[in-house]
Amino acid sequence: MDEASTTEAVTRLPRVLRTRAELRAALDAARQPVGLVPTMGALHAGHASLIQRARRECATVIVTIFVNPKQFNEAADFERYPRNEASDVATVGAAGADLVWIPSVADVYPAGFQTSVHVGALTEPLEGAARPGHFDGVTTVVAILLGLASADAAYFGQKDAQQLLVVRRMALDLGIGTEIVACPIVREADGLAMSSRNALLTPEQRAAAPVLRRALLAARAGYEAGERDGEALRTAMRDVLAEAPLAEPDYVSCADPATLLELRRIDGGALLSMAVRFGPVRLIDNEPIA
Ligand code: PAJ
Repeated sequence: MDEASTTEAVTRLPRVLRTRAELRAALDAARQPVGLVPTMGALHAGHASLIQRARRECATVIVTIFVNPKQFNEAADFERYPRNEASDVATVGAAGADLVWIPSVADVYPAGFQTSVHVGALTEPLEGAARPGHFDGVTTVVAILLGLASADAAYFGQKDAQQLLVVRRMALDLGIGTEIVACPIVREADGLAMSSRNALLTPEQRAAAPVLRRALLAARAGYEAGERDGEALRTAMRDVLAEAPLAEPDYVSCADPATLLELRRIDGGALLSMAVRFGPVRLIDNEPIA
């Protein structure tokens, strides 16, 4: 092997696509089935796990990287969101994807854009209540991505549990044929769920951040010890969060895993979830209990 092909074999850079036309042409020539992994970049091992799963299941894997302005309800959060295209392309390649679509805002939202996809009751509690307009931004961009890619499967993380449910609902309601595949949460060694926003934490905030996981596990332990009262489990989570002075809870939830409405009593499963602020950085995590 000459030096150039050795380098290529090691880095496995994916083909970078920019316009809708480039995307269409690449997908028309792609081997089936096609797996799609939508992301906003600042990629970490959580994203890589989705790409690796798609790689195992699909002949062609395409990752999209687009920091979607429509789903940020705070302009400062959008501005602050970490961006690093070069290292993201390397991560996409190392995880085994063939193609990466990195569009501009005008490629995603053509001039004169005036469509919005709104999912109903599922988007109202939790993240929807805390971030007005957020899910309309997510479902609008995901509908565009699913439409443009017409992939056989699209991979989403359980990390964003409500997003996963909302996207599933939308795909079912709109007759989008792409299978929505759920992938488990990837965590740091200390239990903190991997997130692009973790990079924005100060060292002190980062040291405190695993409290989300500890709070979820305390509630799970309560459930396993026989506690079935929703408020008792929410209190157990709040009590653990209160031990970390830097952590400011936004919400703490023990909800029906299908409707996401708060539970008084658990008699089927439940989704334990929370959003917690560390200064300007807002982290989410969850734990399904069966
Ligand atoms: P982003 O936050 O970049 O996440 C992209 C995908 O990676 C999502 O499906 C998310 O749930 C998953 N993910 C993030 N952290 C993870 C972790 N620690 N373990 C497992 N999966 C993880 O979610 C979005 O982007 C956007 O809303 C998007 C769907 C791309 C629409 O703009």
